[in-house]
Amino acid sequence: MSITPVPRIAVIVVAAGSGTRLAAGVPKAFVGIDEHSMLRHALTRVFDGPQAQVVIVAPEGREGDALTDALAAAGDRRDLVTIVAGGPTRQSSVAAGLGALWGDVDVVLVHDAARALTPPAVFERVIAAVDAGRPGAIPVLPVIDTIKRVEDASIVAAVDRAELSAAQTPQGFRRSILDAAYEIADREYTDDAALVAAAGHTVAVVDGDPLAFKITTPADLDRARSLVARHPLTQSTAHLGNAMPIPRVGVGTDVHAFGGDGPLWLAGLEWPAEPALSGHSDGDAVAHAIVDALLSAAGLGDIGTHFGTDHPEYAGAHADAFLSRTLALLGEAGWRIGNVAVQVQANRPRFAARRVEAEHALSSALGGAPVSVSATTTDGLGFTGRGEGVAAFAFALVVSA
Ligand code: CTP
Ligand code: MG
Repeated sequence: MSITPVPRIAVIVVAAGSGTRLAAGVPKAFVGIDEHSMLRHALTRVFDGPQAQVVIVAPEGREGDALTDALAAAGDRRDLVTIVAGGPTRQSSVAAGLGALWGDVDVVLVHDAARALTPPAVFERVIAAVDAGRPGAIPVLPVIDTIKRVEDASIVAAVDRAELSAAQTPQGFRRSILDAAYEIADREYTDDAALVAAAGHTVAVVDGDPLAFKITTPADLDRARSLVARHPLTQSTAHLGNAMPIPRVGVGTDVHAFGGDGPLWLAGLEWPAEPALSGHSDGDAVAHAIVDALLSAAGLGDIGTHFGTDHPEYAGAHADAFLSRTLALLGEAGWRIGNVAVQVQANRPRFAARRVEAEHALSSALGGAPVSVSATTTDGLGFTGRGEGVAAFAFALVVSA
């Protein structure tokens, strides 16, 4: 039997929140990303990191479920697992975790279960900073958006984003400092770094990771699901470094009937002498099939998820609006486009003379990704053969950005 040495590091994983904003009907940590819960994913990455006591702070009454996830994630580190019940606020949950630390622990990391995809390397960077003598260290990312200070619906100041960083977890501290800071805390702080800073300590920063984003809203959960679908080996992230990213294909089709107003818009081009297609937007079946193929490849739902009739801004919109928004959605989820192939079935318009122009228009709307367009008639058969409308079939390949 192997004897695990008593660790000097502990990770407190707070998972006791209810997930009001996600509104999934169960406590957030138990919501599935794939067949595994958020907590299981978070813990898999924690156990892939340095040897540490792992204290899981579970919702009151759900300690058994937390233990099941913890044992599955821990593998041969199962004797490092401690489960405690949390409190009504995140701060009280962290305090409950602190109460369960073993005697030899002298570095404590506090981590949100909701940052379920945080890579083990982030834990290592935080521990290294505390080991180097800093009282505390947290991972941060630069702020990308331009930030304004707003009062009464007016901008009162521009804020230099170079001075700003977005805080993530795990946040690591020398245990004596964190214990003492919690001892004297007399109000709720936004995070542990703020609580420790209020006790008079300077907290260092290390590089965060985009994968350490917090799953807060249903859109965040979609993003996590898409990322996990991309890396089926996330069971143990130790494999990820060696794994070839697996490209994904997607398929999309669309049909529109002739009968709209104004000129025809198809494949991103205006066809002045041709009858228009009908539809909520411009009826561009080629563009819509491509959007569906790309979203399907990325596991991001379909055109109705992002551009349905509840998005009035797309009424009458042309291909470039749909395609550039789709490109942005894929980018946010960590995908880039390999290529797109689309075939249109229609008696008219005749594509031969404008095929290259159509490819160019569609490709530019997709940030330069290669798009091949082909066209065919159907020998007079079916609705396209009778000239009632057009059909388009698209395939897309996406790869990890
Ligand atoms: N947390 C906790 N105990 C609480 C509140 C939050 O342990 N009383 C944990 C959550 O489980 C989560 C982390 O703190 O892992 C960050 O909190 P947040 O993302 O706000 O989660 P919830 O509070 O569950 O979500 P919401 O605010 O939408 O209700
Ligand atoms: Mg909360």
